[in-house]
Amino acid sequence: MAQDTLITTDTLTVRDNRTGEEVEIPIVDGTIHATELKKLGLTSYDPAFLNTASTRSSITYIDGDAGILRYRGYPIEQLAEQASFLEVVWLLFEGELPTLAELDSWQDEVRFHTYVHTNVEQFLDGFRHDAHPMGMLLGATAALSTFYPDAKEIGDEESRRLQKLRLVAKFPTIAAWVFRHSRGLPYVFPRNDLDYVGNFVNMTFEIGGQHEPNPVLQRALEILLILHADHEQNASTNAVRGVGSTQVDPFSAVSAGIAALYGPLHGGANEQVLRMLDEIGDVKNVPAFIEGVKNHERLLMGFGHRVYKNYDPRAKLIKRVADDVFAQTGIDPKLEIALELERIALSDDYFIERKLYPNVDFYSGIIYRAMGYPTDYFTVLFALGRLPGWLAQWEEMLSDSEQKIARPRQIYTGYDERDFVPIAKR
Ligand code: CMC
Repeated sequence: MAQDTLITTDTLTVRDNRTGEEVEIPIVDGTIHATELKKLGLTSYDPAFLNTASTRSSITYIDGDAGILRYRGYPIEQLAEQASFLEVVWLLFEGELPTLAELDSWQDEVRFHTYVHTNVEQFLDGFRHDAHPMGMLLGATAALSTFYPDAKEIGDEESRRLQKLRLVAKFPTIAAWVFRHSRGLPYVFPRNDLDYVGNFVNMTFEIGGQHEPNPVLQRALEILLILHADHEQNASTNAVRGVGSTQVDPFSAVSAGIAALYGPLHGGANEQVLRMLDEIGDVKNVPAFIEGVKNHERLLMGFGHRVYKNYDPRAKLIKRVADDVFAQTGIDPKLEIALELERIALSDDYFIERKLYPNVDFYSGIIYRAMGYPTDYFTVLFALGRLPGWLAQWEEMLSDSEQKIARPRQIYTGYDERDFVPIAKR
């Protein structure tokens, strides 16, 4: 006999003590479906999603207590050590590591799409010389949607694939041009003889047709991109999914992700860490600064995480990358301040009790600076790394039959009905 209904003892009985009414709610994967509460006329309330899963996802696994991060099952440590960024992008998109032949043709496809319409130069020129790079990246990415009206065909799998390819291929070009604009330098066009990261670095730093690549710094940047590639339902991914759930094109959805990433509590934290280190200025000022943090006067930027209640595994790997980079560039004096902040914070009850550890943004900025990127550009590098994660999550959202337009409920706290008062009587 076919079993229509799942019989399970994994249930939660909820009793409404106002009425004595009870409902039995199935527990699946350690969760209960919030819509079950409707049977009691109730809505769940979770303003910042502290304990609400918004989706099922097979892309990224995080165990925040154990400090574990995996993409499609592969530990981040192994990917950072052995994979190329484009290999990781394929893994996030396709769910499996590419074969050699798949990787070859994927790299070729990406190379083929690196150029952007020359009008992009013109609208980047329209930004003020001191425009924030994230504002420019956000605007330019949204504007790309106007070049590709076919991107609206979000129900067409081939079209979705093409738009993801375009975004992955053109994002470094736009990101590099944003950098050039900030510096008043002419735009450098993509070079198809270079790999993904090499091409990006060349487009940012080439002067007069010359740039001598440093393979150690390039690999360090590639590792940083891999470490940022996805992080399950973080604020910017949630923005991409939420905006994408309206069935808008992916260029517009990704620009929503860039906007969310820009914020200082999210990707913008890497910029704020450097500003904080500049402000502290000297190791001797660290204890006073920490006192200010403990008195809730300010945040220790680059510390704390919604999910990690242990050392962020990305921060651990980034410290190793920092060693490689500083061996090439010489040590940044700000590192000494950062190490002292970390040392004091990790031994102080305020941080221990709240399980506050360095996150991915704590050391990444110091490395970006050593590589020659200005402070206000750091979050663009984060975006370059996170783009494939946004796109993989967007694709997963669209192919998930449980997803609909993201539209939360509210608890109304305003006035009851009242009559309009003409302006002469107010
Ligand atoms: N410095 C000082 N106190 C902190 C910090 C911090 N960086 N982070 C959290 N706390 C305190 C917070 O004040 C609260 O204390 P209390 O219980 O006394 O009110 C407690 O720790 C719990 O914090 P929360 O704000 O409830 O935690 P959350 O999960 O809502 O916020 C966070 C997570 C990342 C926004 C927060 O830790 C933060 O603002 N950190 C600084 C900004 C930062 O580094 N952001 C990058 C996050 S990781 C990468 C990324 O997403 O881009």
